[in-house]
Amino acid sequence: MTGNYPNLLRVTKNERLRLGLAPVIAKHGLHELDIFSDSALIHLLETHPRDQLQAFTMGTDWENRHEWQPVDTAGASGVDLFNAVSKGHLWFNIFRVHLFHSPFRDLLNRLFSELTEANPDFHCFNQTGTLIVSSPKALVYYHADAQPNLLWHVRGSKRVWVYPAEDAELIDQELMEDIFASYIDEEVPYRREFDEKAIVFDLNPGEVISWPQNSPHRIRNVGGLNVSFSTIYETEPSSRRKLTYCANRLLRRTYHLPARSTKETGISARLKCLTYRGFRKLGLVPVPPRRAYITRLRINPEAAGGFEPIDDGPVLTEFSKKEFVLKKDRWGRLAAVAQAKPR
Ligand SMILES: [Fe+2]
Repeated sequence: MTGNYPNLLRVTKNERLRLGLAPVIAKHGLHELDIFSDSALIHLLETHPRDQLQAFTMGTDWENRHEWQPVDTAGASGVDLFNAVSKGHLWFNIFRVHLFHSPFRDLLNRLFSELTEANPDFHCFNQTGTLIVSSPKALVYYHADAQPNLLWHVRGSKRVWVYPAEDAELIDQELMEDIFASYIDEEVPYRREFDEKAIVFDLNPGEVISWPQNSPHRIRNVGGLNVSFSTIYETEPSSRRKLTYCANRLLRRTYHLPARSTKETGISARLKCLTYRGFRKLGLVPVPPRRAYITRLRINPEAAGGFEPIDDGPVLTEFSKKEFVLKKDRWGRLAAVAQAKPR
């Protein structure tokens, strides 16, 4: 199943990867695989379902995250997308590559079996793979992810700022609850003084970085077309934390109960999570509204930045078209209306 790949995780026997405790970098061999070559990436961009590919552009000011804008991929071929991201100012999240491309399924399996071999105490489940392809000077604003992940860097170079997890000065507890409960897309406010608490890493091909669950981070590409494989996973402790934050959010905001403790173990934490699970079974946990991605920008590999304005916009991006339609409301304004079940 995974026999086509050489040993990919390059840690010595004495060098355990202590995932989750602190930011850590290790060596790997993904950059030696031809599934990341120009031609392989073009084929993947051509064949990957467009409702599983999000394209964004961004500005250059870390404090102005409103410049993070979706870009529509309709009508763009794999070559167009590749040329646009190679020369422009774009960021592509190519979701669930392991479900649509067997080499990535094999790669994901292989990486996690090697991780488990190198760390017998590491037990995880629900692993997913997102391929990230981004322009030479692209950046990702300060944010925190709900689940733990590993970023296997393959092409180009980038600088990563990693901040301590569970620091109330860096990220508000209520925002973290919103991230866990899928009410927001990981975005959190950033201030320059946060950098005093950051550790900065320069990431090059053949290096993988991991940080503790929920550690805020921001990323700037430094040079070359950047390609990374992001692998997201869950563990018993990471699921417990998610339950704790979701339970606090529900019990405090919906039922006005004094639930704020983020303690993840002990009788009261267990009771709180059991209560949340019970509420969920009874259908008493509100489902977060889905987000429609609407834009006035579309891919154009010939244009500066790799995109151009849509004169007769706005449009729903290809990513959102399966779930929403654009309709005029009674005041004549365009609004996205959900039309299908959540994916
Ligand atoms: Fe992230």
